[in-house]
Amino acid sequence: MYTITDLQKLVEQEISKQQFVVEPKGLYQPIEYVMGMGGKRIRPTMCLAGCYLFTDDIQPALKPSLSLEIFHNFTLLHDDIMDNADVRRNQATVHKKWDENTAILSGDAMLIKAYQYASKINGQHLKKVIDLFSQTAIEVCEGQQYDMEFETRDDVEVSDYLNMIRLKTAVLLAASLKTGAIIGGASDDDANLLYEFGENIGLAFQLQDDFLDVYGDIETFGKAIGGDIVANKKTFLLLNALQLASGSLRNDLLKWINAADFDAQEKIEAVKTIYNTLKVDELAREKMNFYFEKAIAALNRVNGRESMKEQLRHFAVKLIERSR
Ligand code: IPE
Ligand code: IPE
Ligand code: MG
Ligand code: MG
Ligand code: MG
Repeated sequence: MYTITDLQKLVEQEISKQQFVVEPKGLYQPIEYVMGMGGKRIRPTMCLAGCYLFTDDIQPALKPSLSLEIFHNFTLLHDDIMDNADVRRNQATVHKKWDENTAILSGDAMLIKAYQYASKINGQHLKKVIDLFSQTAIEVCEGQQYDMEFETRDDVEVSDYLNMIRLKTAVLLAASLKTGAIIGGASDDDANLLYEFGENIGLAFQLQDDFLDVYGDIETFGKAIGGDIVANKKTFLLLNALQLASGSLRNDLLKWINAADFDAQEKIEAVKTIYNTLKVDELAREKMNFYFEKAIAALNRVNGRESMKEQLRHFAVKLIERSR
């Protein structure tokens, strides 16, 4: 019997077996660097868990599970350029360690590699898996575009934000579980319920990421704190603060959002203080719980291995309580 921890170890082992570096090294070394710098490996682990719900033989899902991790890491290379982020997983981001052109092209190569790994399955499931992969990948791009556009828009609503994080983050978690389910021979209904579980966990997951971007500990989180505040990311925290703030608090918040020249640390501290005053962190926790409950309701309806369902419930709790 596999536990989720076992599956995570299998993923780690399989990644370490891959030979990412060939010539020209300038293209492939950044791939080995980012794939080797750790991370939680949530997506491939969820893919294997999705498969193991329906069959003992998870071997056929191993290579496709790596495709999801490679794709995820590709998005990080480009995301870190777009977000001007210098540190990830406590190490220099690829565009800082090398340069932006390197991060762009190595990222492109990773997207292609992801397709190569996704197609390492037998013909029966190939079309479904690739179609899901393509649909998901394009949605992630849509989410990233909204994320960037929202930085400079002042008419963003909470519902827009939720749709944006669904696209940029939740669909990939959902697709990871569904990919495993498809390869494991699940019925369409079960595969779709698992997608629903992943999508709702993914929404809670990104809400927590936004929370940690303000309230996390830099060492544990592995990324710079306050980047979202500096960039005016329209997070759940900021959108709720904008709705709730009045009087001088509102003026203060708007002053920081519209400031062209500012000291980053000063802005982060000031906006964080406003968040604390308005207790928007508590609203974020409530919203996470809301999506957690929806996720569990979908999971409960899946006809799959009970012991793995139980583990997925625990895993979901840990994901929204995580500090990294
Ligand atoms: C980071 O994802 C990007 C988001 C969707 C928030 P993870 O938090 O899964 O990053 P790693 O792979 O564990 O570093
Ligand atoms: C992650 O959003 C979305 C993707 C990478 C597709 P963030 O920009 O919040 O992720 P981090 O915080 O940099 O990991
Ligand atoms: Mg981003
Ligand atoms: Mg980012
Ligand atoms: Mg973030």
